[in-house]
Amino acid sequence: MLVTVIPKGRPSPSVQEILAQDVNPAPAIMLTESPAQGLGDGDVGIERYYAKAWHDREVEKVWRKTWQLACRVEDIPQVGDHILYEIVHDSLIVVRAADNQVKAFVNSCLHRGTQLRATGGSVKQFRCPFHGWTWNLEGALTHVPGRWDFPNLDTEKACLPQAKVGVWAGFVFINMDPDCEPLETYLEILPEHFQAFGLEDRYKAAHVSKIMPCNWKLAMEAFIESYHVPMAHPQVMGYYGDENTQYDVWPGVRHVSRMIAVQGVPSPSMTGLDANLTIKHIRRDVPFYGGAPIEAETTSEARAKLAQRAREKIGRASGRDLSALSDSESLDLIEYLLFPNMVPWGGQALPITYRFRPNGDDPETSIMEIMLLFAKAPDGSHPEPAAITHLGLDDPWSAAPELGSAAMVADQDTENLKRIQRGLRASRKPGVTLAQYQESRIRHFHETLDAYMAD
Ligand code: FES
Ligand SMILES: [Fe+2]
Repeated sequence: MLVTVIPKGRPSPSVQEILAQDVNPAPAIMLTESPAQGLGDGDVGIERYYAKAWHDREVEKVWRKTWQLACRVEDIPQVGDHILYEIVHDSLIVVRAADNQVKAFVNSCLHRGTQLRATGGSVKQFRCPFHGWTWNLEGALTHVPGRWDFPNLDTEKACLPQAKVGVWAGFVFINMDPDCEPLETYLEILPEHFQAFGLEDRYKAAHVSKIMPCNWKLAMEAFIESYHVPMAHPQVMGYYGDENTQYDVWPGVRHVSRMIAVQGVPSPSMTGLDANLTIKHIRRDVPFYGGAPIEAETTSEARAKLAQRAREKIGRASGRDLSALSDSESLDLIEYLLFPNMVPWGGQALPITYRFRPNGDDPETSIMEIMLLFAKAPDGSHPEPAAITHLGLDDPWSAAPELGSAAMVADQDTENLKRIQRGLRASRKPGVTLAQYQESRIRHFHETLDAYMAD
């Protein structure tokens, strides 16, 4: 796509120039660039990050209207397996109702409102713990103790209310709006792009949830730009293309944006650094493809060798022959956003998916989750999907060793996010200012958010 609105001065080499030199070429869908066009440039008002009125309206206009990631299909493999998807005051039982059917029931008894399930698990039916009204997995009322005492109860009509359910790439989505658009159109270009990445052939190898000291949008914004990397994560500059990260926002696409950040090359601000120094940085800091020193004359040769090492490591872990995996999928951050709160990554070096939600009714804290999706074995088998590790407000991400080096990076971000939340409350400036290019995904997100809020 034509590059038209990248401000002059974005450092070289571009992501596209780096991908063009790769030994195993990146999927075609990555070999295009679509910088945002036609977005506004004013400040974004800050009350959205703390005001209870904004939060309450978000519940009605966003959380009760949009498609949201509920779980992975492998979280509920057997009929009767279920998880709870909770968002502010809403609670849904997301259950495998039949072999090929997932349903989402409102988690509230139709007698006097008791929560039918307090946790996920596996059941044959839903029996309320208070008086014993019982529904089957299809949501039909099957038993009422003392049935004679409810002469006006129409059993046929007393089905559990349901949310809409959709499945894409091994992810289960819900939508509480009975009139919502289908998931297929809501996803826009995402299925086309992810054909190359095959997330349906992954399983959830790690899942960590943490209470964050900030609004859910602030948390998410910190993970969809690289502008903060040199200050917040200086340890990665030897092998991370920060200031030359590519940001894509496509015309007419409201729910999806992308960034591609290359690894195995130094930050453009470290030019002048010789290749060997760069490689030492990589060797020390990167578990995904770290190891013995790599002999290379140039940074592009180093990237190629690191990609080869990463392919072999990832392939060994999954029992797959990954000799054809692209250098980029072996090394880079290939990160998409699905509005409002899901951030799936395409590559295999960092097989992350993030999810961000309000923490109950509090607009100034949130729940952030990091999932790692590893490739299944060639026959489709895989270990048990990971149970969720729950971290509290004061627990560091590094208390979850299953996250590896991602934990340290997330802890650095979390420290900043605490200060951003507090700083915004002290601010006399009514809006936050955004970089035209490097923060264009944040701008795009807010324009979509504003459209939903105004609706
Ligand atoms: S509240 Fe559920 S059976 Fe009474
Ligand atoms: Fe960060």
